[in-house]
Amino acid sequence: SGALSSPARDAAARAALRLVPRGGVVGLGSGRAVWRLCELIAAEIPRAARPRAVVASERTREVCERVGITVVELDGRERPQLAFDGADEVDPQLRLLKGAGGALLRERIVAAAAQRLVVVVESRKLVARLGQSFRLPVEIVRFGWPETLRRIGALLSAPALRTGEDGKPFVTDEGHYLVDGQIPPTSDPDRLADELRRVPGVCDHGLFLREAHVVFAGADDGSHRELR
Ligand code: A5P
Repeated sequence: SGALSSPARDAAARAALRLVPRGGVVGLGSGRAVWRLCELIAAEIPRAARPRAVVASERTREVCERVGITVVELDGRERPQLAFDGADEVDPQLRLLKGAGGALLRERIVAAAAQRLVVVVESRKLVARLGQSFRLPVEIVRFGWPETLRRIGALLSAPALRTGEDGKPFVTDEGHYLVDGQIPPTSDPDRLADELRRVPGVCDHGLFLREAHVVFAGADDGSHRELR
């Protein structure tokens, strides 16, 4: 559909489509690049040969249902062979900043289940340093959130509770809140990830430092680069 397609996103999704297995189970993250990939799977792979999907967000579930991809639960029996997801930033070591869409906690679970993560991005998301253009999302439980926010402020600059268009706190699919904060230019991503995880009330954060196996970066001219 029009809203999901941009030449760069399309180029990356088309490149990733070639890795989609016939049959079996795949993991699908969230975001426009993934939703575009869902449309391509439905358009290019006959229904009987389509893999079933474990999905990281209710939005992705809706897209799968709309285009005709069967959604299965992550029930501990069936595991995805491969997961596909977008990202907000990708650094030269294939480390990712994720979570602008608010699905990071389930995305991490789906990526871990699959062991191999294929990332689909527009090439403008390739950055020299994580945090260069996006704030880092941190998913927190609702209980005592101002205290958790205060502690996050020791690690990220200007942390703020994410709110929706109605001004009310944004609530994730798992019923949590999100705090977005600026990564200080001097902070080491590995150390930051560890420290955030140790803050009481923090469920997860958007640093995916070891998950990406391959990144397809699409350009506006319709070409793509494959980064490993
Ligand atoms: C969702 O929580 C994010 O991690 C998405 O993967 C990210 O925002 C990419 O979205 P787009 O493909 O829409 O840019």
